[in-house]
Amino acid sequence: MNPNQALWEKGDFTRIAATMRRSGEALARSLGVGSGTKVLDLGCGDGTTALPTARLGADVLGVDIARNLVDAGNRRAKEAGLSNLRFQQGDATELRDVPDRSFDLVVSIFGAMFAPRPADVAKQMVRVTRPGGRIVMGNWIPGDPTLVAQILKISSAYTPPPPEGFVSPMLWGVEKEVTARFGGADIAPEKISFARETFTFDCEGPPAGLLAEFRTYYGPTMNAFEAAEKAGRADDLQRELDTLFAKENRSARPDATSIPATFLRVTVAV
Ligand SMILES: C[S@@+](CC[C@H](N)C(=O)[O-])C[C@H]1O[C@@H](n2cnc3c(N)ncnc32)[C@H](O)[C@@H]1O
Repeated sequence: MNPNQALWEKGDFTRIAATMRRSGEALARSLGVGSGTKVLDLGCGDGTTALPTARLGADVLGVDIARNLVDAGNRRAKEAGLSNLRFQQGDATELRDVPDRSFDLVVSIFGAMFAPRPADVAKQMVRVTRPGGRIVMGNWIPGDPTLVAQILKISSAYTPPPPEGFVSPMLWGVEKEVTARFGGADIAPEKISFARETFTFDCEGPPAGLLAEFRTYYGPTMNAFEAAEKAGRADDLQRELDTLFAKENRSARPDATSIPATFLRVTVAV
């Protein structure tokens, strides 16, 4: 199986997505969609962005490489009674069944950044956006001190080096790289704008409980713990992540967790 697909079908990302709903809704409201806006959510997971965007009246297609997340998304659309929202399996590097210029807005929040071959991903996103339309990406930022960048940084110290030629997903969080990638898809630099925004992970229970969800259900963290266990270092990884989650928690309630994380919002005018 495609290793990218295997990574995201591992565990159950819906457990992490359940902590992302509040920010997903806020992000959807910020997209400026209205009734009938045609939206593609790429790397949509179970619909953290896609579902609230459809609630605002947009006609939304969610595409994700992970079959289990596509199924979960379709279940959520049905439960919500949203006939203007559907999910299908697909690869951001090669959007085979998606016609050229077919969307007003292509959105990808912490989604397409995880696909291999970023130059192809940029070209595909531009190809399926209509002229005059927009692309909005949310990408984690390498070296950022907040939660997700730090989880990925700490985890990388416990996992074997990636295969030669591997391009870090985090480079989608570097403005110069993003500009070069979209430049390869004929987008001029002045058509691209950047902003730093915050996405918050919320759940009941202490930060250690949220970490347990990552350890048990989030593919990249599961892989890091598997590698750390083999090297006899799982306790060290647990300790480092425990410290991080506790330090980043901003909840005023002792029985709840609320952890903000900074991301790079990229907007491309096509
Ligand atoms: C961190 S999750 C984010 C999911 C969702 N956007 C959200 O905010 O909840 C990353 C998502 O990207 C998807 N993904 C990774 N590589 C992909 C690819 N090549 N094509 C499509 N989706 C991909 C994963 O399956 C996963 O659902």
